[in-house]
Amino acid sequence: MDDIKYTAVPHQPHNNGRNNHSRTGYDDQLDYGTPAVDSDVMVTLEIDGREITVPDGTSIMRASILAGVNVPKLCATDSLEPFGSCRLCVVEIEGRRGYPASCTTPVAPGLKVHTQTSKLADIRRGTMELYISDHPLDCLTCATNGDCELQDMAGAVGLREVRYGYEGENHLKAEKDESNPYFTFDPSKCIVCSRCVRACEETQGTFALTISGRGFESKVASGIENFKDSECVSCGACVAACPTATLIEKTVIEAGVPEHSVTTTCAYCGVGCSFNAEMKGEEVIRMTPHKNGGANHGHSCVKGRFAWGYATHQDRITTPMIRKSIKDEWQVVSWDEAINYAASEIKRISAKYGKESMGGITSSRCTNEEVYVTQKLVRAVFGTNNVDTCARVCHSPTGYGLKQTIGESAGTQTFDSVMKSDVIMIIGANPTDGHPVFASQMKRRLREGAKLIIADPREIDLVDNSPHIRADYHLNLRPGTNVALISALAHVVVTEGLVKEDFVRERCEWDSFLLWRDFVAKPENSPEALESVLGVKAQTMREAARLFATGGNGAIYYGLGVTEHSQGSTMVMGIANLAMATGNVGREGVGINPLRGQNNVQGSCDMGSMPHEFPGYRHVSDDATRALFESAWGRPLSNDPGLRIPNMLDLAGEGKFKALYCVGEDIAQSDPNTQHVTHALESMECVIVQDLFLNETAMYAHVFFPGASFLEKSGTFTNAERRISPVRRVMTPKNGHGERGLEDWEITAKLSAALGYDMQYKHASEIMDEIAALTPTFKGVSFAKLDELGSIQWPCDDENPEGTPTMHIDGFVRGKGKFFITQYVPTTEKVNAKFPLILTTGRILSQYNVGAQTRRTLNNAWHAEDIVEIHPHDAEERGIKEGDWVGIASRAGETVLRATLTERVQAGVIYTTFHHPESGANVITTDNSDWATNCPEFKVTAVQVTRVNQLSDWQKDYKTFSEAQIAFTGKKSAQTKQPA
Ligand code: SF4
Ligand code: SF4
Ligand code: SF4
Ligand code: FES
Repeated sequence: MDDIKYTAVPHQPHNNGRNNHSRTGYDDQLDYGTPAVDSDVMVTLEIDGREITVPDGTSIMRASILAGVNVPKLCATDSLEPFGSCRLCVVEIEGRRGYPASCTTPVAPGLKVHTQTSKLADIRRGTMELYISDHPLDCLTCATNGDCELQDMAGAVGLREVRYGYEGENHLKAEKDESNPYFTFDPSKCIVCSRCVRACEETQGTFALTISGRGFESKVASGIENFKDSECVSCGACVAACPTATLIEKTVIEAGVPEHSVTTTCAYCGVGCSFNAEMKGEEVIRMTPHKNGGANHGHSCVKGRFAWGYATHQDRITTPMIRKSIKDEWQVVSWDEAINYAASEIKRISAKYGKESMGGITSSRCTNEEVYVTQKLVRAVFGTNNVDTCARVCHSPTGYGLKQTIGESAGTQTFDSVMKSDVIMIIGANPTDGHPVFASQMKRRLREGAKLIIADPREIDLVDNSPHIRADYHLNLRPGTNVALISALAHVVVTEGLVKEDFVRERCEWDSFLLWRDFVAKPENSPEALESVLGVKAQTMREAARLFATGGNGAIYYGLGVTEHSQGSTMVMGIANLAMATGNVGREGVGINPLRGQNNVQGSCDMGSMPHEFPGYRHVSDDATRALFESAWGRPLSNDPGLRIPNMLDLAGEGKFKALYCVGEDIAQSDPNTQHVTHALESMECVIVQDLFLNETAMYAHVFFPGASFLEKSGTFTNAERRISPVRRVMTPKNGHGERGLEDWEITAKLSAALGYDMQYKHASEIMDEIAALTPTFKGVSFAKLDELGSIQWPCDDENPEGTPTMHIDGFVRGKGKFFITQYVPTTEKVNAKFPLILTTGRILSQYNVGAQTRRTLNNAWHAEDIVEIHPHDAEERGIKEGDWVGIASRAGETVLRATLTERVQAGVIYTTFHHPESGANVITTDNSDWATNCPEFKVTAVQVTRVNQLSDWQKDYKTFSEAQIAFTGKKSAQTKQPA
């Protein structure tokens, strides 16, 4: 198979003669020294005899590099504002005195600039001499030999000798800080250029570093003792910015400088950051954020930047396995044997129980191409629409709510749009933990002065982030009352005359608006009437609503705190109502922006993984669409919407659903009411799991197909802004016994062939070609175009051949926007004397979702176990102290976690994450779900908390069961952090 359809770019270290690359530097990532300037006024000047025209405000340094003239530099890099400290970039300007720094001097019309004169050469050599006299001369054995800007500059300025001795005072014996799991800080190599400090401030927005002291005493400091225990969030921005080996990845120290690079896309969250996988042969040395990445512009977070080691973790299962019963040991078999066994089981079950007794589940961790072939297999080969995806448990209400109101199941904007927002409203999302790179961009806009409204029961980081960022309003509502809040905000907009009536008249269904207006205007929807329901002061709600409606461009960002409720879909529609009523849709700076959790939630939904929709959100009952797919696939297709995940599980428990093909998803950990899920899995006759690891679901499986990590396959992911980005294979899929490892779509295609339907793809690009041929919004997408453009935001068609950054500009996809009545209905999950507290859940920066990947990296240094947050008052009432083990009991089950006392949660509410399976967070969540989509009500569970000193019964059983299951694979048992 010809699987290498990408270009591996040879590594171009800094001493390649051009001297203008940052550490993330490749041919397509030249470092222009200072950021690009946006100006309509153009200025023409001459640099070393070359005429160049650039936007007004551009630095002479940037103009020089654009003109092909390289100016030496050390403290400047184009991701940061110029600082002017190193004086290496000095130039001469005819008619001006002195030697100005080209990085801080803007262009002017008619300037004649000289970058290479003997005087400049003297100054630069003198400067370099000073730097080098306080620098260990160990270049040959230095980890970044050949990839160091200081070394490059010494060569560029022609430094041949250092006149000052090393006997005097210097920093050569300064102690290294190796506390961070991923990078080291070696102060002996620091030139105090401040690039790291500025990267932490400007790029990341964390302000963890400072330059302390003055003159010779000045040095980089991380606030307290070391990096690991400081404010640092390990985003790696300072490491990427450092021009020396002072801040350097430990993998580079261990394995040396990489030698080629492949651009690919992060497999973690819905931001979809673009990365260079920097390689030596088939070994990843480091992942560096791609400067031209449309979603991340050269930034990263700790997960994408550093937490990729799981791909080669010893827990990987790399051989197909089968067994008759979950009580049996696994039998390692060949691919053919495993595929044929799975196919024979599917045929047997289909013949015995009928095709509706089978189904498939895909995952947002899969590529678009993998999701597409999985749903095709289920619909065309299994012969049923019983296919669903993990979006069921996260953003299915987004799909439903946005389709109803504005006609398209996707966010309306680019991430860059936030830079034009004046008021940012965040509802039920925690961007600094869940979507960190976008959070950094948002923080940049907030530092520029945008206003911030946060609606969240918990005090997320952005509520009081730093002296620079503080929410203008924190609406700390009670869990489960979102819809009441959106009604209260809308009430203020409507009754105080703040509706953008022109927009509504022109763009929306007027009748639906009138009905909605009359509804929200009712006195029972006023902030005053709802104050006691929400626990938020009426005046605060009024002020927040006024700010949103009148403060300029208003953008709403929301997350699972909106969708994972019994009224998740209602709330999504309520958000769309508010955005339309205030005219905040259809241009940059505004919009309705669901922050998608996993890397490919958007894509997996786009690809037809819901039981009622073909790719492109077209209903299975639509005759024309079905005819299109029947003709393309050559098989009859059902017009009945299939089963959703909860329906499959219910029927399995009743003995009516018998076979499941589960690709990349871990329902036994991620779905609510774990005991219900595991009972369903135990009741099936054939569970086929395709994954990297023996995940929780695989412990109940009969067939295990070893999947490929994102580094081992080709395809595409679609992020939260509809951006389709390439995933490129950088290493061969792992295989355990000499056979060729398979990409996931190949496994599905082989299973399909064994079931009598040949899919005939030779490469993932051909799957995308088929998607494009059958899906109007993907019509113009191809791997070739992705190679050319880097990424594409759908819709991409004849009208928008390069994609669509902002949607609904001239009209909504459904024609006119439609308002829906959003009546608040309190959840049935109520607190009472037995369960007096509400548990709500979320995620943390260093871990990702079920943790299958991040738990197998050094990220455990920050979050080795799930902890429950409890308000000091609630803790005191129960005699609970910091670090105590507490039992959390709900109507569904009980588990035990360690407690931390914090006022970040309000009294009456507790909070935890769900990244570790032994925590059993979903043992306590209930079967309640969204009325429209069955998205679980993860955010509201009534519980009681008590001090305990032993594991819950479930945890004890889990420990025994999981250890036995791991032993059945021949691998060692995983560690558990719970008390013995
Ligand atoms: S650590 Fe690197 S980036 Fe920071 S001041 Fe020192 S040399 Fe410059
Ligand atoms: S890794 Fe990121 S957060 Fe930490 S010091 Fe560097 S720039 Fe700041
Ligand atoms: S996890 Fe998200 S924010 Fe972090 S690098 Fe990956 S895509 Fe970017
Ligand atoms: S690069 Fe201009 S002063 Fe350092």
